[in-house]
Amino acid sequence: MILDLADLVDLQSDRIAIALLEGAREKGLREPQLEILGTDIDPVAVAEAQRGIYPAEQIEALSPVIVARYFDRGSGEIANLYRIKDWIWQRCQFRIQNLLSENYPDGAFDGILARNVFIYFKRDEVSRIASRMREGLVP
Ligand SMILES: C[S@@+](CC[C@H](N)C(=O)[O-])C[C@H]1O[C@@H](n2cnc3c(N)ncnc32)[C@H](O)[C@@H]1O
Repeated sequence: MILDLADLVDLQSDRIAIALLEGAREKGLREPQLEILGTDIDPVAVAEAQRGIYPAEQIEALSPVIVARYFDRGSGEIANLYRIKDWIWQRCQFRIQNLLSENYPDGAFDGILARNVFIYFKRDEVSRIASRMREGLVP
């Protein structure tokens, strides 16, 4: 299980899921039993990630192979939208999470990502979050 903190803009959690699946595929490994928990403080970003629906121009910037493997294009009035395929959508959960609150995700995670978010915090806040991340990792 992967925990992706403060990272729901621009398909980030979906991209991580896809990168891990593609990495396993390229190496000829069995498909990982992947689960991603993506979080952000921004309820709009969480709601958008939960919907899993994206504008065509954002998805068509990805390689055509990736688009075909992981996304379905709408038809008719929604031909300008793509939806992440159900089988991968089901592996991603999203929730609102303030990293400064006590309500930090419980669990044993195989990997925890946090990109471009520590810039908002004071030094003692960064070390508190970093300790929680360390405690949340599978040994
Ligand atoms: C600069 S963006 C980085 C987004 C993404 N990780 C990336 O690298 O593209 C910072 C993100 O941190 C989130 N954020 C800011 N303060 C936060 C907090 N206290 N707890 C959780 N997320 C927070 C913002 O909503 C925003 O999505």
